[in-house]
Amino acid sequence: MGQTFFKGTILECCQIHPGPQSLQGSCTVPGDKSLTHRALLLASLAQGTSQIDGWLQSGDTCATLAGIQQLGTKVIVEQNSIQIHPQSWHAPHCPLDLHHAGTGVRLLAGIMVGQPFSSVLDGSSQLRKRPMQRIVKPLQAMGARIHATDGHAPLYIEPAHLTGVQYQLPIASAQVKSAILLAALSAQGTTVLTEPEQSRDHTERLLQAMGVPLCIQDRSICITGPACLQPLHFYIPGDFSSAAFLIVAGLILPHSKITITNVNMNLTRTGLWDALIAMGGNCQVLQQHIEGQEPVATLEVQHSDLHGITIPSPWVVRMIDEFPILMVAALHAHGKTIVTGAQELRVKESDRLAVMSQELQKMGAQIQETLDGFEIQGHQKLHGAEVQTHDDHRIAMSLSIAALAAASTTLIQDTACTEDSFPNFFKTLQSLGAAMGK
Ligand code: S3P
Repeated sequence: MGQTFFKGTILECCQIHPGPQSLQGSCTVPGDKSLTHRALLLASLAQGTSQIDGWLQSGDTCATLAGIQQLGTKVIVEQNSIQIHPQSWHAPHCPLDLHHAGTGVRLLAGIMVGQPFSSVLDGSSQLRKRPMQRIVKPLQAMGARIHATDGHAPLYIEPAHLTGVQYQLPIASAQVKSAILLAALSAQGTTVLTEPEQSRDHTERLLQAMGVPLCIQDRSICITGPACLQPLHFYIPGDFSSAAFLIVAGLILPHSKITITNVNMNLTRTGLWDALIAMGGNCQVLQQHIEGQEPVATLEVQHSDLHGITIPSPWVVRMIDEFPILMVAALHAHGKTIVTGAQELRVKESDRLAVMSQELQKMGAQIQETLDGFEIQGHQKLHGAEVQTHDDHRIAMSLSIAALAAASTTLIQDTACTEDSFPNFFKTLQSLGAAMGK
């Protein structure tokens, strides 16, 4: 396996040859992307200096960092940690550019609607395709003056007096939930949110750690504004969503055995882990403890004979970013894997159902794509092909793992997007024994 081509410092495409067919050893994964966005934004609102250790320095999170700096926040970056010195924010001189970062734009919108100045939030052509009405509607219900462009970015925001709202989320979305919670910090009165299923709860954990009282019962969260945030020493563990690619590689590549240390095992994120265990995966949690606000563990996986399953509907939101790599696992499992209720995959960085089906089909896979999921009859043998990432980091990494197990060489075009969430993805694979050369 492996040849990488560099254009300047950007990894442009990657050629993966079959073999050595096994990964061995121990590695870490970069800091959690969801937590890093939240830590940067919440620390900027705190009444004092915060420190963030283990933050993810990636395309997406650096867009959020640039946004808060443009608003006036002072930061000092020291290798693995960053100090955030909040300042009172001023009107930005130009639109804030969140590049590809859906979490960045939606969460920042929740904060900007409560600021005493106008702003415009924008991003890449890819971000401009993502639905924004889902945040605009509840924020407007709080009194916010926010308008999307045909339901998309750019978002135009004017100062407004916000009041608390009772809002039932039509879809389980941590980005929508978080935008409302962040707006509620500067609103007068109580906001009560209800979710159809529990989405990732990092915002709630961090707000509570920063001294904001929340009342959480079943699927409802109650918060009263205006609220002050105490500074915090944030500790960001490795991202389970990044570990997911290595976990599936360890399970499907014969003779593999790998250990991944310092992985965030927040239960609202680990649906894939449960799914792989249900599929017969040899997946072990070696050590688990609480670090900062989150459970953190060392994980060990070994090559296993997987079998297909039907993913239970409550797991869908807990593994929403992991369906592209689940498809790769399902192709190597005996029997059928069935996913329904995952229509949100169509509005991620790409239409992940369509794109994964299309690209894996080039490698010989047979996938039955449905409106809200897919069915895969497993135990398929893939061959190499030239495939496209559609500028979507999770597509790029999922195809790379599929390529490691394929019978012939695969050329993956436009792999620079892996930098959005997992800088050094290919180097990490190399460190586990994947032979990739220039
Ligand atoms: C995220 C929430 C999820 C997820 C995204 C990160 C977050 O999106 O897909 O990658 O950090 O809140 P939705 O809230 O749209 O489900």
